[in-house]
Amino acid sequence: MTSHYDEIINKTIDYVKETLKNAESGHDWWHIYRVLKTSRRIATEEKADLFVVELAALLHDIADPKFNDGDELIAPLVIIEFLTSQGVHRTVINHVVEIVNNMSFKNSFDKKKFDSIELRVVQDADRLDALGAIGIARAFIYSGYKGNPIYDPAISPNQKQSKEEYKKGSSTTINHFYEKLFLLKDMMNTQTGKKLAEERHNFMEQFLEQFHKEWRGE
Ligand code: ADP
Ligand code: NI
Repeated sequence: MTSHYDEIINKTIDYVKETLKNAESGHDWWHIYRVLKTSRRIATEEKADLFVVELAALLHDIADPKFNDGDELIAPLVIIEFLTSQGVHRTVINHVVEIVNNMSFKNSFDKKKFDSIELRVVQDADRLDALGAIGIARAFIYSGYKGNPIYDPAISPNQKQSKEEYKKGSSTTINHFYEKLFLLKDMMNTQTGKKLAEERHNFMEQFLEQFHKEWRGE
């Protein structure tokens, strides 16, 4: 028997799949699927509210400002409209909107405006998807989409980027590792998130070591 809760989650899955069907492949349904799986795992260990966590994981990239001319007001409107149509309680809707508004990397440059264990869980899961083997794949697909080069030894990474500089994007894919990906390990919120990040971080270090070796023709 499916509960009312499962029914809403299943409807949300259908809605997200449909909405993201033409999304760039680093931010498509499979990104959401992975964030949902990782969020569930962390939520159980952190004793977070699973319903809020699942809805936020599912809806966190539903109208990413990056793909909407920088407009940060579309996502809350879309989320409120969809969840209201599913009869979700106002308190839950507000919580999901707060999570989505506050979880992105670019907003980590600003002072934290909202905090909850559910936000911490979904933010960790989203960050983990930027690390490890999947993280490497996503960095290259995003760079390809932007037309950035793989690497250019003449351009050094800028590790102390401002929010505006970050939004302009990394110059090369390899620089993106130094400008963002290697910083994520120390930004994790939960114990479970930290443990998983460590493993994925080490894997990326190995990848870069091999990359530079091959670059030198060794
Ligand atoms: P958020 O949505 O949390 O602000 P991003 O959208 O910046 O995070 O990152 C989403 C994915 O795209 C990540 O896997 C990230 O590594 C990748 N990405 C973002 N910017 C770049 C870039 N300039 N070069 C390569 N990959 C990037
Ligand atoms: Ni995401």
